[in-house]
Amino acid sequence: ATNRTFTMIKPDAVQDNHIGAITQMMEEGGFRVVAMKKTLLTKERAGDFYAVHKERPFYNDLVSYMSKGPIVAMILEKDNAVEDFRKLIGATNPAQAEEGTIRKRFAKSIESNAVHGSDSDENAKIEGDFFFKADEQF
Ligand code: CMP
Repeated sequence: ATNRTFTMIKPDAVQDNHIGAITQMMEEGGFRVVAMKKTLLTKERAGDFYAVHKERPFYNDLVSYMSKGPIVAMILEKDNAVEDFRKLIGATNPAQAEEGTIRKRFAKSIESNAVHGSDSDENAKIEGDFFFKADEQF
């Protein structure tokens, strides 16, 4: 079925001028852009977004990293969107990302890994609604 996932282009990839190349890989991978916005997360909002990771040792660094510069938030649509998008982006750790994936090409480290991708349909909806009102999703 056609469904949606949520992604962010992370601060380093935005700073390094890769918004276009990364979005092109998404579109060429069969994803349609439903919503798209460049925005700056405050530490508080980054902390809320990543609240599921609050107990993890990397949480504070992650929150600092994600609020250090603007990100691009997007909702994407495709058949089997969540699973297919995770294949397109590759492993969280870029050292394990396969050839042809977004992280293989653009990630610098496990933290600075170029893009986020939702891990379930349920989280895709929560994460998309975190950034976009209903009338901003097309
Ligand atoms: P993301 O898919 O956005 O979800 C959680 C993020 O935490 C992850 O990508 C990484 O950028 C970051 N992170 C930092 N260290 C780790 C780690 N050791 N394991 C998993 N994620 C990590």
